[in-house]
Amino acid sequence: MRDEVRMLVLGIESSCDDSAAAVVEDGRQVVAERVSTQAQLHADYGGIVPELAARAHLLQIATLVQEVLREAGVTRQELDAIAVTQGPGLVGSLLIGASFAKGLAVATGKPLLPVNHVHAHLCGALLGIDKDMRQLFPCLALIVSGGHTNLYYMQGPLDFQLVAYSLDDACGEAFDKIAKVLGLGWPGGPRIEAAAAQGQAGKFAMPKVMQGARNFSYAGLKTHVVNLCRQAGGKLNEQETADLCHAFQEEAFRQLVDGIELHLPPPTQTIIVAGGVAANQRLRAMLAARFSAARLLFPAARFCTDNAAMIAALGFHQWQAGDEGKDMAWAVFSNYFQPPAMLK
Ligand code: KG4
Ligand code: ZN
Repeated sequence: MRDEVRMLVLGIESSCDDSAAAVVEDGRQVVAERVSTQAQLHADYGGIVPELAARAHLLQIATLVQEVLREAGVTRQELDAIAVTQGPGLVGSLLIGASFAKGLAVATGKPLLPVNHVHAHLCGALLGIDKDMRQLFPCLALIVSGGHTNLYYMQGPLDFQLVAYSLDDACGEAFDKIAKVLGLGWPGGPRIEAAAAQGQAGKFAMPKVMQGARNFSYAGLKTHVVNLCRQAGGKLNEQETADLCHAFQEEAFRQLVDGIELHLPPPTQTIIVAGGVAANQRLRAMLAARFSAARLLFPAARFCTDNAAMIAALGFHQWQAGDEGKDMAWAVFSNYFQPPAMLK
């Protein structure tokens, strides 16, 4: 492992519907960062349209990188390395960021570090911490987003041992789908959270999915809630909608809290929870109540959802572990469970 020196990494993220760039120092201190969201572009469709997302990334990415470098007060030549999302994500979107980053690396001669977006989310929780990072490990780390519900046992910032995952839909995906059917709009997570805060407990029964199981599942819970909406013929009033959101949210998070408890090895003191759904205040409160003796680490709100600071942070850890970033012969990949090496 290399000694820790001041190292400036440019992170580039384009895996889904947000284009982002950031300059991060030593994998922890965010010097400058920007996210250009496409939420407005996709809102009318109730979900992301991949072709539109890729085109929007192409329009944004060069300007974003220029702006972030200007804001950081560094030139391209002063960067030590470039990190970019390799996958998983939408292939068309990923190709824009990856191609741009490869071009920049060739033009500047800087190392290029391809980063796993799911793992990078967990690095979002390490941004800004001033402790010796070794004190945080081993830890249990949950990434809960629109695409993944993965739980890892981690013994270091690059050591991801997957111990549980969703057998079907991701948790955030269920939030988005239910919000769409309820007519709450997109993205659904924050809207369901707001509605649920006005809801009363015990008004709707939910199936206890995966109780005592080692993995997660959200398809059955999602279908149950969607069926309830359809049975009501779209006639749920505001209070009933809030009650339904409340019941769904409680059950969705019960699974996560139980899953962490089941997999928590006794001496483990730290639990990291990251990804878009980690922005939810009710989830944070439930975790704090159940694991009052543990150190709970969440990313700052703006680093829960997709951003490039987390990409730069993971790239830094890869560089520190000895990756020289000289290999450019890699492809982007869409599926977390499909090893990138197979795509070379
Ligand atoms: O991490 P992220 O930005 O993108 C992925 O990599 O998937 O996560 C987006 C997901 C969406 O499903 C969104 O509805 C959900 O995170 N989300 C939330 C909240 N904020 C975002 N879910 C529940 N409560 C929230 N406050
Ligand atoms: Zn993400």
